Amino acid sequence: QAGLRRQLIDIHEAATQYFQQALQSPEAARAREYISSRAITSETIAQFRIGYAPDDFNHMRDALGKHFNDETMRASGLFSSKEQNDEGRPTGNMYSRFRKRITFPICNEAGKTIAFTARALDSDEKSGPKYMNSPETPLYTKGQVLFNLDKAKSAIRTQDYALLVEGQMDCIRVFTSGIQPVIATSGTAFTEHQVRLLGRFTKRVVVNFDPDTAGANAAEKSLALLTEAEFEVRIVTLDGGLDPDRFVQEKGIVAYADALKTAKPHAEYLVDRARALFPQRTAEAKVKAVNFLLPHIRRLPSAIQRTQFVDDAAQKLGIDSSLMRQELQHAATHRL
Ligand code: UTP
Ligand code: MN
Ligand code: MN
Ligand code: MN
Ligand code: MN
Repeated sequence: QAGLRRQLIDIHEAATQYFQQALQSPEAARAREYISSRAITSETIAQFRIGYAPDDFNHMRDALGKHFNDETMRASGLFSSKEQNDEGRPTGNMYSRFRKRITFPICNEAGKTIAFTARALDSDEKSGPKYMNSPETPLYTKGQVLFNLDKAKSAIRTQDYALLVEGQMDCIRVFTSGIQPVIATSGTAFTEHQVRLLGRFTKRVVVNFDPDTAGANAAEKSLALLTEAEFEVRIVTLDGGLDPDRFVQEKGIVAYADALKTAKPHAEYLVDRARALFPQRTAEAKVKAVNFLLPHIRRLPSAIQRTQFVDDAAQKLGIDSSLMRQELQHAATHRL
């Protein structure tokens, strides 16, 4: 339905401008304070079209409702209602989905807003989740979009790599500090669709997720998909429990660029991770470490890579490498 898609692009442009203007209004004083407390400059606000969704249920609906038809309003994902259909579309009286939040447009490759992510100003329970996203709409499927790809894609092509971070704030900080080939997954593991999308620009990725359990798990899932698609993947883990945004703020972009240079090739990263997860020198711990690694090794597309990974891992884990090759063989037959 070309007509509806066009209307949805237009309503997202209108909403982007609505939020941008709201950020300049007197009632957004706290929002502006919050933004400056996070060291976001007015240039960054303008470049990323950051805005504010006021603490109000009706105003945006009334404002946009003058220019867009009911179908567009309901399909936009910008509004909720008490009643909804099976697809989650509001069927009753609509009100603003995003309230009292800093808004970040999520753009398609052409730089058009197709959805929003919005951060709560407060962290109390009644403010809801820290980040709230647009629901899936005819314009937006979460697993098919990479945040900032529109701005990063030419740098990704010319520098022939992409830096992958978790959060919007990480991405914006790193990008505006001068490292431009940066995109964000928005807190989830990479999807196959995103891998294909990125593969149009480069086959080399540096993954820098948060140095916590959630980040490590998301990194593992992402690099499984990436190596399977024959990407060259390296992983950075930052010191001090800092995410990229905070690392750059506290230590500077030069220190961050240096940290990126210490990125480990994915095989080395995984072996180190296996040893960190199962540090004991017992046979049982070694079996667990091998079992953690085997699925990753099996996914590697070339036999040369698999053999090298096995030999590396065996050496570091203190296991006989022919034994580990047998395990890989066994796992492979078992899978069929
Ligand atoms: P984090 O919890 O690491 O947040 O989630 P962050 O990016 O560091 O956020 P700040 O710095 O506190 O503002 C990483 C990403 O996961 C998604 C968001 O995309 C976020 O940037 N996320 C997180 C959600 O979608 N919902 C949440 O409630 C939390
Ligand atoms: Mn995180
Ligand atoms: Mn984070
Ligand atoms: Mn953060
Ligand atoms: Mn078996």
